[in-house]
Formats: sequence, C-alpha cells, structure tokens
Amino acid sequence: MTPEEFRSAAHELVDWIADYRASVGDRPVRSEVAPGWVRGELAGPPPEMPVGLDALLTDLSDVVVPGVTQTQSPGYFAWFPANAALESVLGDIAASGLGALGITWQSAPALTEMEEVVTDWLRELCGLSDEWYGAIHDTASTACLVAMLVARERATDLSEDRGGLQAEPAPLVVYASTQAHSSVSKAVLLAGFGRDNLRLVPVDSVTLAMDPDALRRLMAEDAAAGRRPAAVVASLGTTGTTAFDPVEEIVAIAAEHGAWVHVDAAMAGSAMMLPECRWLFAGVEGADSFGWNPHKWMGTILDCSLLYVRDVQMLVRVLSTNPSYLRSASDGEVTQFKDWGIPLGRRFRSLKLWFHLRLAGADSIRDRLRRDLAHAQWLAGQVAAQPDWEVCAPVPLQTVCVRHVPDGMDDAALDRHQQEWAERVNATGRAFVTPALVEGRWLVRLSIGAEATERADVKALWALCRESAGDGAVLG
Ligand SMILES: Cc1ncc(COP(=O)(O)O)c(C=O)c1O
Repeated sequence: MTPEEFRSAAHELVDWIADYRASVGDRPVRSEVAPGWVRGELAGPPPEMPVGLDALLTDLSDVVVPGVTQTQSPGYFAWFPANAALESVLGDIAASGLGALGITWQSAPALTEMEEVVTDWLRELCGLSDEWYGAIHDTASTACLVAMLVARERATDLSEDRGGLQAEPAPLVVYASTQAHSSVSKAVLLAGFGRDNLRLVPVDSVTLAMDPDALRRLMAEDAAAGRRPAAVVASLGTTGTTAFDPVEEIVAIAAEHGAWVHVDAAMAGSAMMLPECRWLFAGVEGADSFGWNPHKWMGTILDCSLLYVRDVQMLVRVLSTNPSYLRSASDGEVTQFKDWGIPLGRRFRSLKLWFHLRLAGADSIRDRLRRDLAHAQWLAGQVAAQPDWEVCAPVPLQTVCVRHVPDGMDDAALDRHQQEWAERVNATGRAFVTPALVEGRWLVRLSIGAEATERADVKALWALCRESAGDGAVLG
C-alpha cells in the first residue's frame, strides 16, 4: 500500500469508526453471538488475492461489531469501565502509523522520553511525590508480575544470580486479601512462589477490605515457622466491590518483616486524579510499587497500564539485559525501558496518553469521573430506599453492588435470583451488568463509568433492574 492509497483507505476507515461510535448506543450491549459463529463467518481459505477495503468494512459491520460487547455504550455497566476515549484512539493510530521500534532509547528516543513525560504528568495529576518512577505496561497483570519478581529478588538478595528460588533455604510467602484480583495469584505463581506460599488474608465483613490484624498474625506465624514474608499486595478498589485495603497499616506491618508492598489500584487509580478522593489512597507513598490502569475508568484505550516504583535501581538490577547489539554510546545517560519490564520491544503507548491528556485536558477527565461518582451515589440512594433491595457493600467510587431480597426466599434461592434477574437485564440488550460471588454470596455489580453514560441511562438501568427482578412496586 502506498502512502496515497493509505490516505484514502484511512479516511474511509475513520469514517467507519466515527459512524460506529455515533450509533453504539443503538446496539445490544452484550454480544449475542453463539460460540463459533464469528469463526464460521470469517473462515475460509487464506486470501491469495487482494480484496477492496469495502469487503473488510462490510465484515467489520456485519460480523465483528455483533461479536463484541459494546463497552462504549451508555448501557454498559459490566465488569469495569473500559473506556476508549477517541482522543486516545487518535494517539493509538499515530503510534501505529509511526511504526517505531521501542527496543532501546537509541531505537526511538522519543518513545522513551515521551513515556517519561506522560508518566510524570500522571504522577503529578495523582498527587504522588517525585520519588516514584513510572513506566507503561500492557496490563495490571504484567505490572503485578514485575512487582512480584522484584519483591522476590529483594527478599533473596538477588537469588537470580545464584540458584534462584530453588536454592533458597526457606520458602518465601506473599500475602493478598481474599478479594484481590485473580491476576495477583497468577503473578505470585508465575514468579515462582508457589500456591502453598500465597496467603489469602481475610477481609472485614462490612468493608471487605483486608483485615490488618489477620495480616499481622499470618506474617508472624510464618516468620515464627521459619518462612520468610516477602511481599504484600494491597488492593485499592477491589474488583468485586471497590474495597480499599488499609495501605498505611499494611505498609507498617510489612516493614516489620522487610516485605515489599505492591499496591494494585487497576480500576480505582483514576480516582486519585480527584483531590477529594485521595484520602482513599492514604499510605500509598510508603509502598514499593503502585500500579493502575488508565485503560479502565480514565479512558485511555487499552492497553495502557502504569507501574510506578520507588527503587528503580533494584528494578533494573533484576530485569536488565545487555547484549552487545543493543548497546550505544548514550547508555549511561538514558532510560532503557527494556530493563523496567519483561518484553524487549515496546509499542509507542505513551502517544495515546499524550493525545488523550492534551486533547481532552485533565480537567474534563476529572469532571467526568465526578459525574460518575455522583451517578453512583444517586443509584445507591435509590436502591437503599427500596425495602426489598440492599446495597451490599460501601460505595466509595462508581460501582454499586446490589441484591434484590424479596421475602420468602432462602439463601440458596436468593443467590439464584440475583443471577437470574441479572441475566434478564442482560438479555434485553439495553444494559449489561455483572453478577459476582463475593465472600460466598451472589450479588450484582452495577459498574458505572462508561464515557457515554448520563443520568438518564442510570435511571433507565435502575428501572430495568427492578423490572427484571420482578420488583412488585415497579410492576404496580
Ligand atoms: C483490581 C484489579 N486488579 C487487576 C486487574 C487486571 O487488570 P488487567 O486486565 O489490566 O491485567 C483488574 C481487572 O479487572 C482489577 O479489577
């Protein structure tokens, strides 16, 4: 494809994207395709001869669009906000167009230095001190794995230089709450600690945040038994209910054992942009690493996950490689992000943050986050005011966890009822919500925060929930 052919095709594609985004609210929010349908529509012999762009756009419209959840729809209340602000889409397109190769500073100085600029901007926008150094990873799962690798090496005084974990005299133990995201256990397993050495710390029954006394007890028991507490992962904004672990206390308890503290604020980190929400993150400054995803609520298109660490020397010591063909005369003066994470080659991810922040402005992003917080408080108020409904967890941010609890159902029937009415909501195509099992009970998570969601959409969701649950009052 020549640049001129690209110009014309790209205009058509951008028109297609704009039309799609303009009409996204008219489509069923949850994909309704059956397993295998998309594959069946697209399969066939590999293309030997070129086809026109029209054929691809038709397939995008007719096969691909029905085959995705409409996360940009105002009716999307599932999992977590998965916004893809169009400002950031432009940055992603620019990154693809440039085709830069991010393997060392030398291979694309702008890729490295823009990443330093935008991670500093976000650090400042979140009110973090300048003791933190940030890099962009693909996901919070990877960021947590990196944190666990560095925690392991700090606890073993660089066992990687010797026999690794296999030669350590005592097991290393990692702690996270029962509400921590599954990616935390995955990171712990991948970093070689082993499932036997992962303690899931009980949570407070009301706040669903880690119980610091239980953490203290478990760490002391392990230490007394000759095991070595190596790391604690504190969750700020748990996946189930957006609970906030008490980081300040966790940092103090971990310090008694010299354990690394990683803070996982994948979804909730966006709220740190709001000064009035920062109290929820009190204590973060004392942690060793802190990760959050602009690709969730803040709205920079996936994949865009930030990992900040304080001790960059340690990070680089654990992760650096230095083959001859990657060396250059500037090595001593520049940042080499290949030494801050797992992959060698990096995409120019900072461009999407740079476009998003510059074209939208942080102020408008903060306004949107505040709008969503107000929606959640409004919805929680409506739910709490109905006799047969419960708000079943605190609502510090944008997620409202609810249960419909009509008289005459036992626990098992109530659990089934939550899953059934959520399914009825989702089957309408007008909204998409997520049932979840939290501490042994089923509830329904209403996760507000799609960029397009306005108060009218939240009101419509509430009416739909009541109707789908067979709430007598709304059915009249
Ligand atoms: C608290 C928390 N941590 C980690 C993750 C994993 O995020 P990612 O998909 O970026 O790996 C999630 C995703 O929902 C999450 O809610």
